[in-house]
Amino acid sequence: MSPDQQNLPIGVFDSGLGGLTVVRAIRELCPAERIVYLGDSARVPYGTRSAATVIRYSKNCAACLSSIGLKMLVVACNTASSVALPALRAQLNVPVLGVIEAGARAVAQCGARVVGVIGTAGTVGSGSYPAQLAQIAPSCEVVQQTAPLFVPLAEEGWTEGEVPLLVARRYLRPLVERQIEVLLLGCTHYPVLHHAIAGALQDLRSHAAIINSATAMAKDVQRTLCEQGLLRTGRGELRCLVTDQPSGFEEMSARFLGERPTDVELIDII
Ligand code: DGL
Repeated sequence: MSPDQQNLPIGVFDSGLGGLTVVRAIRELCPAERIVYLGDSARVPYGTRSAATVIRYSKNCAACLSSIGLKMLVVACNTASSVALPALRAQLNVPVLGVIEAGARAVAQCGARVVGVIGTAGTVGSGSYPAQLAQIAPSCEVVQQTAPLFVPLAEEGWTEGEVPLLVARRYLRPLVERQIEVLLLGCTHYPVLHHAIAGALQDLRSHAAIINSATAMAKDVQRTLCEQGLLRTGRGELRCLVTDQPSGFEEMSARFLGERPTDVELIDII
């Protein structure tokens, strides 16, 4: 690969802030990469919408990012990864990575027999995680649960204390009753609620290990960049684009990213 291609940014998109948990994991593992993050804040949430709508929104996001010039597209949104990957791979001529394959691979590596998956209605309804796990870990039993209240709790910053703990206990109880050994966080918003989720599992006397698909995704990005000779050296950078309310995004994103982004641009992608 030419140095020009190595220097191109990685495009990452999600419905809003949540995908910054994936950006954070990629920056930790591949600090020299240039990343352009697009948060479709005008149209969040994706998790409650039909597959056709999520595919349309995802194609808009991919077209916007690829017009900048990319070496890779990372679909950080679990809901979009569940339904839109074939359409995005047909649309772009660079590697397109989704979180479902990465998360499922991380689960398969644990060798667990019973796996709990929590996600949006769109992700759970698509059956993407059970389908992926059936291919790579056929003996593994998958128990799914939607956890819709986790998204607004994360966006509001209610990540600690009794409210998220109560909600987490309610969502996780049916999974614990099925004796899950591993819990996969199948939504980009959930890693910021890790503490409450771990506390609820403990309260319910479960020893299930928590797997964060953001970390698994970052490992996938690093491996693909290495395989394709696309790893960059030098100083990394992050540019953030949003489709609505850049000031709110800037303020709240520190929670997901671990730092406040310096430069957030408002764009129109439709
Ligand atoms: N980012 C979405 C996901 O990972 C959750 C938020 C939404 O519903 O848009 O599925």
